[in-house]
Amino acid sequence: MNKTFDLILYGATGFVGQQAIAYLAKHAASNTRWAIAGRSLAKLEAARDAVAHEHPSVKEMAMVVADAQDEKALSTLAASTRVVLSCAGPYALYGSKLVAACVKHQTHYCDITGETPWIRQMIDAHHAKAEKDGTRIVPSCGFDSVPSDLGAYLLLREMKKRHKQDCIKIKAAFSLGGGGLNGGTLASVMNMIESKQSKALNDPFLLNPAGTVPKDVSAHRDPLGAHHDEDFNAWLGLFVMGPVNTRVVRRSLALRGQQASYQEYLRFGRSLVAGAVAGSFGVGSKISMGLLEISPLRKLAQRMMAQPGQGPSAASMARGFFKIDVIGQSAQGHQLRVVIGDSLDAGNGATVKMMCESALALAENEDQLPKASGVITPSVALGEVLERRLAAAGMRVEISG
Ligand SMILES: NC(=O)c1ccc[n+]([C@@H]2O[C@H](COP(=O)([O-])OP(=O)(O)OC[C@H]3O[C@@H](n4cnc5c(N)ncnc54)[C@H](OP(=O)(O)O)[C@@H]3O)[C@@H](O)[C@H]2O)c1
Repeated sequence: MNKTFDLILYGATGFVGQQAIAYLAKHAASNTRWAIAGRSLAKLEAARDAVAHEHPSVKEMAMVVADAQDEKALSTLAASTRVVLSCAGPYALYGSKLVAACVKHQTHYCDITGETPWIRQMIDAHHAKAEKDGTRIVPSCGFDSVPSDLGAYLLLREMKKRHKQDCIKIKAAFSLGGGGLNGGTLASVMNMIESKQSKALNDPFLLNPAGTVPKDVSAHRDPLGAHHDEDFNAWLGLFVMGPVNTRVVRRSLALRGQQASYQEYLRFGRSLVAGAVAGSFGVGSKISMGLLEISPLRKLAQRMMAQPGQGPSAASMARGFFKIDVIGQSAQGHQLRVVIGDSLDAGNGATVKMMCESALALAENEDQLPKASGVITPSVALGEVLERRLAAAGMRVEISG
């Protein structure tokens, strides 16, 4: 197909979008034709100019104007490019018509949503056609849920390669620091609560294809309390992104026809104090979520939080890091470990790297990607290409055992 662009970055004016312009200016191949898009030309020009002093090449960059509710403009946008990367969220508000336009024009798409109820809607609306047409619609290519999804994928692959066996149980523990929550992320969480999606959020198999949900659903519920884990030699407790990541990983497992269970946690220390903190953290998080269901409290909290367009300070992001430690076991008792990490903050530096490398994999490595299409997950859509690209971009990816 003869398209004008290889890649359009949509939502380029937001807190994440602006960082993505700089990343793409530095890392896109010189023959990759890419452009930025958003709802306002003036804002796009300002976003471009903000990075132009460091990356002068962006001065000549094409800009496409399309409001998230303007179906005609989105259709023209999707028809003009091979790949769309969107960071315009909340996705339940600004993502549905763009995904529909991409499916219509067989344009590959990726984003950084963690809004699992919205992903479910996109699966129900578009999976069948996108699968048939060979279009890759790939939500959750940021911190949620690339480290979890890639980690589980690598474990399963290595267990097969090294021991000719399947993993039956996979567990993961996150450590992270620095950074903080963006206004856009908080707006997405608030929108999910406001639109009464908490029940869907709690479904451990929300994203699974029909017929792949195990009978013992309750064994896969999100962990609330803390426990000491011998393999990690640490106390583990609820990880707030776990209810997103586990749904994505379970969809990947089901799409690949793999039977393993997957659960993930936040890693606390080894001491009893750490255990107590882990326990109260889980309960505290649940209580906070419950309180946010109450409208006046939610409105008060919203006034005190970062607003759309805002995010953590540069100093706080500079202190950022994340690490996920994934352990998998086979039925015969073999154990392997995968570590993925970076010295970038999870919600911005690392997310920008993961989403841009995902988009570049779709745009620059299409012929090397796994044969998969539909509304799918990062590991199913991008597999080893993404592993290779992230490692080349400085991300720690280690397998041992
Ligand atoms: N997966 C992860 O780890 C991760 C990490 C960070 C963020 N996120 C998600 O990424 C999304 C963006 O985060 P952010 O911090 O960059 O948010 P943000 O700064 O508020 O940016 C939102 C973007 O959406 C655009 N937008 C709003 N209304 C629009 C409309 N009607 N038409 C077209 N575009 C519109 C905004 O354009 P204007 O500038 O014109 O307002 C802006 O470009 C959020 O959903 C957040 O949850 C995910």
